[in-house]
Amino acid sequence: MPGHVLIVDYGSQYTQLIARKTRSAGYYAEIMPAGLEAGPYLEREPGALILSGGPASAVEVGAPKLDPTLLEAGLPILGICYGMQLLALEMGGRLTQEATGEYGPTVFKAAGNGPLWKGLPQEEFTVWMSHGDRVEEPPPGFAVSGRTSDLPVAAMENQKAAIFCIQFHPEVHHTQNGETILKNFLAEAGLVPNWKISSFARDTIEAVRAKTGSDGKAICALSGGVDSAVAAALMSRAIGGRLWSVFVDNGLLREGEADEVKAALTAAYPEMNLKVVDASALFLNALAGVSDPERKRKIIGETFINVFTDEAEKLGKIDFLVQGTLYPDVIESVSPLGPSAMIKSHHNVGGLPENIGFHLIEPLRDLFKDEVRVLGKELGIPDSLLWRQPFPGPGLAIRIIGPVEPEGLAILRRADSIVRQEIKQAGLEREIWQAFAVLLSNKSVGVMGDGRSYGRVVAIRAVTSVDAMTADWARLPHDLLAKLSSRIINEVAGVNRVVYDISTKPPGTIEWE
Ligand code: XMP
Repeated sequence: MPGHVLIVDYGSQYTQLIARKTRSAGYYAEIMPAGLEAGPYLEREPGALILSGGPASAVEVGAPKLDPTLLEAGLPILGICYGMQLLALEMGGRLTQEATGEYGPTVFKAAGNGPLWKGLPQEEFTVWMSHGDRVEEPPPGFAVSGRTSDLPVAAMENQKAAIFCIQFHPEVHHTQNGETILKNFLAEAGLVPNWKISSFARDTIEAVRAKTGSDGKAICALSGGVDSAVAAALMSRAIGGRLWSVFVDNGLLREGEADEVKAALTAAYPEMNLKVVDASALFLNALAGVSDPERKRKIIGETFINVFTDEAEKLGKIDFLVQGTLYPDVIESVSPLGPSAMIKSHHNVGGLPENIGFHLIEPLRDLFKDEVRVLGKELGIPDSLLWRQPFPGPGLAIRIIGPVEPEGLAILRRADSIVRQEIKQAGLEREIWQAFAVLLSNKSVGVMGDGRSYGRVVAIRAVTSVDAMTADWARLPHDLLAKLSSRIINEVAGVNRVVYDISTKPPGTIEWE
């Protein structure tokens, strides 16, 4: 997309946030890894560059650099943190390495009335710092445009060259005026805020039509999650009846799940050719007697692929496989610093192998999750699907400790449904990342009526998280916990004890298996 914002990623944990903030301001942004020659960046025909922060020290040997020919292209540039230091070094300024650095909230004072500070309510405000090195002396042609009590050059600019540098992170929530500063840079760069999800949908539909031609057929595996549902909806808009969507009911779904997904999607897209395949018996047979969690995952993954490819074969010649891959998965795989700590271990529906004879279409590969939800809303997908909490591919099988049997599944399904109902009722559904029940393998002694009971134990897991990499146990109100416990024990036959899991991740994980 010519004229967009190109973010060069020097490995900051906030790089994706820069892209998201830029896009939500209406400017399309893409991320490319640092360390390339100028050519690949310029081929993308950007209208402006943002150099991200990063963990390295610009003065150290082997630190990621900037190809000087990129500077000759005359593009407006915003250097953030490491990006600022790199520009300072590259253009003849002086840097020093610090023993202590500056981290966290800091009072920043803007100097002069440069374009970045346009419309700010006051010249002093709090910003988020996270740096070791500092710019001691700006390069020739640059003026100091901001300082902190510790840092004489906390911002610098060369208005003529349209190069602006800030030591703080405008993209993080804790920086006051951060969004205004980013927008000021983009406006100063002469870019027009015309990125909209509706234009994305229109362009993608056109691109899909061009790729599939007039008779290409596609198949999509629906997981019940938001990504595959939105991908299917977009594809359906693009190619109508030449899309087939397959939802495999593996017998490990939650109460009412397959029906809900089917009803939600067919209401919006009657022509979607949605097929729900009931393969529960196959999955449960394959899982019989298996306790080891990784074995369970493997069996479920393999069985899914067999069922899905069988279905695809029944449809005759299919050319394309649609997957709901998102932008974070795409960027992670080209990270300059190798696989980053943010990489998720569980991708996509059932982990379909790439060599099953289809060409791949990934219509959401430029979008972040929040954008997928906006798109889904625009495509008429109901909130119940768009805001569904994450649910693992292997489903309830990894929430039953020990072998998966119909009796245990029935107990877990009922208990889990109560947990979800009550969390929803309490208005906590969006605040909580995941809330669910786990069925333990041991039994516990209790008294019920006048007799001794020996029943199953259900654990409730509810966590808050932003990305599932780390998680904290949710501080559910005691009254809610009491209600959950009494409803599960009273309504689910065979259960006589309920416990609440108060482990964080790490060292625990969100799931029990
Ligand atoms: P853990 O348990 O590793 O879970 O803290 C992190 C997130 O991943 C989900 N999860 C899975 N998703 N297949 C999936 O599709 C899996 O095998 C799987 N295991 C865990 C989990 O629900 C949480 O959101």
